[in-house]
Amino acid sequence: MAEKTVYIETYGCQMNFADSEVVGSILGNAGYTVSDTIGEADFVLINTCAIRDNAEQRIRKRVRELKASQSRRPQLRIGILGCMAERLQSQLMVEEENVSFVVGPDSYRKLPEILQQVAKGRKMAETELSTTETYADIEPVRMGGNGISAYISIMRGCQNYCAYCVVPYTRGRERSRDPETIVAEAKALYHNGYKEVTLLGQNVNSYNFNGVGFPELMAMVAEVSPRMRVRFATSHPKDLSDSLLQTMAAHDNICRCVHLPVQSGSNRMLKLMNRHYTAEWYLDRIDAIKRYVPDCSITTDVIAGFCTETEEDHQATLEMFRRVRYDYAYMFKFSMRPDTYAAKHLQDDIPDEIKTRRLEEIIALQGQIALENNRLEIGKEYEVLVEGPSHRSDAQYFGRNSQNKVLVFDRHDVQPGQYVKVRVTDCTAATLKGELIQ
Ligand code: 5AD
Ligand code: SF4
Repeated sequence: MAEKTVYIETYGCQMNFADSEVVGSILGNAGYTVSDTIGEADFVLINTCAIRDNAEQRIRKRVRELKASQSRRPQLRIGILGCMAERLQSQLMVEEENVSFVVGPDSYRKLPEILQQVAKGRKMAETELSTTETYADIEPVRMGGNGISAYISIMRGCQNYCAYCVVPYTRGRERSRDPETIVAEAKALYHNGYKEVTLLGQNVNSYNFNGVGFPELMAMVAEVSPRMRVRFATSHPKDLSDSLLQTMAAHDNICRCVHLPVQSGSNRMLKLMNRHYTAEWYLDRIDAIKRYVPDCSITTDVIAGFCTETEEDHQATLEMFRRVRYDYAYMFKFSMRPDTYAAKHLQDDIPDEIKTRRLEEIIALQGQIALENNRLEIGKEYEVLVEGPSHRSDAQYFGRNSQNKVLVFDRHDVQPGQYVKVRVTDCTAATLKGELIQ
């Protein structure tokens, strides 16, 4: 039988992109060809996100679009992986009748067997969650990457149960991966020319494997090579320890960037959201970051219009943004998700126009702050890891500094993967422009 071809499409967070690389590896080892185009595919696997309703709607639209490809290639089978698969299970195959299989995030080892059955015309759903699966022994195939920067998944699941969030239901209990396998993966990447790894988990600060905590793990990975940068995401403010910040301060190659989702600046909202910290606690953590790692950039996530949010709560969020002066923020309108505490006990009582207006106010404020922060960068010099040609012009390259800010500069004689020194000469709210110095 000729080899069968799989095409994987990924939506959602970095974790999902990391998972797709695990899926690619599992299927590659089972004799499938993993293609980066849909053209010849026998199977299309869509790795999905369930975090907000609009993420799910977008994926449903894509699934329906694929009907056209299926009528051209009748053998083409479509499967849904990831968070939406876990949330909706086999019901998804009833609602979207061109879907042949749904596979949750802890069942990817079963994919070779599932594809065999599906090829024979069966429909399959595997959505059991595990308390132990970390895919620790699977070496991900690096797909669609730049050969410079890679994700390493260090833990899975989440049990914080924030009132708005579907993740504990789609990704199951928290579990950490053996640090030896993480370090081995980082070493292999370094030997293959990678210059940057990002350690991923829903709440990396609660990483714990037989007594090895996150700060120790970070140190172990940072010590693979001083020429390999280490990033991490995401930190929960309640668990951001001084010890992690000390570890960052002690290693130059741990990047000066902390992503610390605030979600709201109002203590009443934070309590209702079940976040386990107050605005004061959060600001204390921001002070700690600035104390230990003075050149650190800080980024966040925020939700506008959570249940019962008043104008006063919203003002507290704006005030938080003014106090912290984030370098970047992911800003969202609250979307009620089935199964969550909010869905069971609260009402989605903020009208959409108000959510939209509050979100726009946060976006406008943040845009102004980001621009002001970037203006302060003019004249500074940074070590930049070159990633590739800039999206705007082939005559320019772009890369990132340790703070994760994008710098664009004239090309000269440099290569992607190289570290260069760049002086910032100009900026927008999103990008720094600079010139090579050497
Ligand atoms: N509605 C809107 N945003 C949400 N997030 C999580 N759940 C929801 C929801 N129901 C946001 C949070 C989280 C980020 C990944 O997505 O800000 O940090
Ligand atoms: Fe989306 Fe959350 Fe699942 Fe990531 S873990 S894909 S953000 S629902």
